[in-house]
Amino acid sequence: MYLSTTEPTVAARALAEGHVAVIPTETVYGLGAVANDPAAVARVFAIKGRPVDHPLIAHVVSADAARAWATNIPDYALTLMDRFWPGPMTLVFHRSDRAADCITGGQDTVAVRVPGSPVTREVLRELAVLTDDPAVAIAAPSANRFGRVSPTTAQHAAQELGHLLEEGDVLLDAGPCEVGVESTIVDCTGDAPVILRPGKVTAQEIADATGLKLGEGSLVRAPGTLATHYSPQARVSLVDETEMSALSIDPQTGVIALASQPTPTGAVRLCAPNSVEEYAACLYRALREADSLELVRVIAVPPAGDGLAEAIRDRLRRAAAG
Ligand code: TXA
Ligand code: MG
Repeated sequence: MYLSTTEPTVAARALAEGHVAVIPTETVYGLGAVANDPAAVARVFAIKGRPVDHPLIAHVVSADAARAWATNIPDYALTLMDRFWPGPMTLVFHRSDRAADCITGGQDTVAVRVPGSPVTREVLRELAVLTDDPAVAIAAPSANRFGRVSPTTAQHAAQELGHLLEEGDVLLDAGPCEVGVESTIVDCTGDAPVILRPGKVTAQEIADATGLKLGEGSLVRAPGTLATHYSPQARVSLVDETEMSALSIDPQTGVIALASQPTPTGAVRLCAPNSVEEYAACLYRALREADSLELVRVIAVPPAGDGLAEAIRDRLRRAAAG
């Protein structure tokens, strides 16, 4: 049986000893292993049920540590590190020798992030001491089974993966994640940044910080960004506000929409956020709730606008494609 704890030190010790640990971040919970421990990283892939050519993000304690994992870092990326780290942004670079095939999925690039959550940072600081390596990284995908909804609480992570953890593994509980959707991924291997996955750090913020027009296409492969992802068992349909008002509702239908949208008669309200930030923070919990209530269908009204709303629409589209 794994150990559930609220102590960052306990998680750091388990990782240093070669175990895996479920760790909170400000975005979603991750399933971590020390990135230069191929056996521990292999367990992460096995537990998640993830194909081995899907690369993992290396979580590090500082921009200096991140630089040890990358080569050919462009100036605009230094600006992004300075402006948005620690925080919900992942940068993709050409990899250095440190980044082994087991975390890059055999690609010649590596994804790195300095997480913003104080608890995650404490784990990383502690791990750096225990391993005597200031640039040590925790390789961690989201702590869900492959293709499913990312967990935003320790309880959700335990439901997803708890039965697959072993003696010595740890689940670190730091309460609900603040952001609720995964980090913005930015490809920094070209002349200008390209967004591979939208998140809390927005395209506009990246363009403003760097003074660059963002690139469009990328040669970098981000396999986790499949068309179907984040899928609950229930069938997800996306509608706009007017369509929602006109819908006749079958039993066992859940609704996800901003609070301003009334709940149609007969539907189960899964969340009623008052802002786009609240929408992101409750989205995955609401999708899970649909499954635990054994709802057949979820109807969601995606939020309008850019920035974080774009990230929410991206996740909803993938959930609906599942
Ligand atoms: O917020 C997050 O990013 C969370 C927390 C735990 O940090 N992590 C997360 O990891 O969402 P994961 O593995 O579920 O999604 C990572 C995405 C995948 O789509 C993967 O393909 C992409 O990052 N990725 C990782 N390394 C890459 C690389 N070298 N080049 C391109 N994409 C990469
Ligand atoms: Mg994921």
